[in-house]
Order: sequence, then C-alpha cells, then structure tokens
Amino acid sequence: MSVIIKSPTEIARMREAGRILEEVYLKLAERIQPGISTYEIDRIGEEMIREKGCIPTCKGYEGYPNAFCISVNDEVVHGIPCEERILEDGDIVSLDTCLSYKDYNADAARTYAVGRIDDEAKRLMDVTRQAFFEGIRFAKAGNHLNDICTAIQNYVEGEGFGIVRDLTGHGIGAGIHEDPYVPNFSMRRKGICLRPGMALAIEPMVTEGDWMVGWLEDEWTVVTMDGKRAAHYENTILITDGEPEILTHTDGNL
Ligand code: MF3
Ligand code: CO
Repeated sequence: MSVIIKSPTEIARMREAGRILEEVYLKLAERIQPGISTYEIDRIGEEMIREKGCIPTCKGYEGYPNAFCISVNDEVVHGIPCEERILEDGDIVSLDTCLSYKDYNADAARTYAVGRIDDEAKRLMDVTRQAFFEGIRFAKAGNHLNDICTAIQNYVEGEGFGIVRDLTGHGIGAGIHEDPYVPNFSMRRKGICLRPGMALAIEPMVTEGDWMVGWLEDEWTVVTMDGKRAAHYENTILITDGEPEILTHTDGNL
C-alpha cells in the first residue's frame, strides 16, 4: 500500500474541486422535492459540474453509467439514476459524486430530506453527518487511521444505529479511489500513521436497523437486507500540520 502525499499544487486543485462540489450540492438542494426523478437530479447536477469546467469522474468509472449515485430510503449507496424513480414526500435521498478540476478529484455525499420526513429519519441523517465529524476529530498528523475508524463506529453504535462494513472510505487525489481504505469501523489494528498532505474521503454509511447489506441485480445498488433506511455523508479532507481541512465543506451547512 502506498499513500500519496499531495504537493501544494495538487492540494490547490483539490481545494478548488471541493469548493465547486459543495456549491453543486447547495444548489441541488433547491431541486430535491417530491415529484422529481432521480434521473432529472443527475442530469441537472451533471450540467452544473460541466458548466463549472469540471469533469464528473464517477461517470464511466468501472463502467458506472451516471454522474451521480442517487440512493433512496433502503438504498445505501450507488443507486443508479432512473426516470421512473420519482421522489415522494417523506423519502430520504443520498447523492454521491466525484468531480475533477485540472485532473484532481473531490468526493462528497449528502443525504437530503424530501418534503416532510419523520423524526427517526431526521435522527438517522443527523447521526450520519455527525459520525463524520466524530471521525475527523482524530484526523491529525501522528494519529493512526484506526483512531478515525473507531471513533465513527463507537458514535454510530452508541446512537443505536448500524454502520455498514462492506464499503469504506478511501484515499483520493488524481484517482477517485487511492490507498488507504478508510473503514467506518474498528480495524483492530492501528493502521497507517497519518501525515500532512494525505487526502482522505471519510464516508459513514449508517443504517436504521441491521448493518447487513446486499447488491441488486444491476450489480451497483447497495440495499439494506432488512429493508430499513440508510443515510450517507461524505467529505474529502486533508491532513495538515494542525487541524484537518475539509476540502468539500464550506459554511453552507449541508
Ligand atoms: N463516491 C463514491 C465512492 O467513493 C464513488 C462511487 S464510484 C461509482 O464510493 F462508480 F459508483 F461512481
Ligand atoms: Co467516496
């Protein structure tokens, strides 16, 4: 395993990619309403990315057909946008995409409420977002990777939710998936020592019930086995000499 330390030029590009990605998610929030299809969200989002001079790097990645992964309710991640999939009042929907600016990537995911959602769905979304912030507290040079993983797992399980084991976060840069894997659960070993210039995508996937997941026949869509709902929240972060920098998170508050 080799974890790439990013140069100042690479970091500047990733920072710009991340700033644009956050902007895209903020603008998309206005469009996520009952009645819109996941296909339409993908289309609008892809257009925004391209208008800003960036490339939607999920599209074509290992054959993935779209710019965004859009996952509704019991779909955990990697849902494929579809014209027939119309969002309804009370749904929760997770969007996940990567974009590159001058060949450097940012990756982030957000879960949105569609219309009015129930209290448990709201708590699921809040805990998923907070799980990221519990993890990033440990994303400091000199700490080990497992410090992040363990913090996320302990927080999520302490809230009574499940944390998905079959998919993980990852390093990111010129490639959307680089070393190391960043699990959201304890690896029971320290893992790599974190160094300034490492860029990581930290992405807790949290379930209302059991954490067991399966794949649909499309070979992409990941769903909970018990049919209960799931949420996803992800940011690209940079390890620095001091506090970690969130490259895909501005003050927009999504
Ligand atoms: N952000 C997603 C991830 O880290 C990227 C999905 S890859 C795709 O898992 F092929 F589904 F687009
Ligand atoms: Co990712």
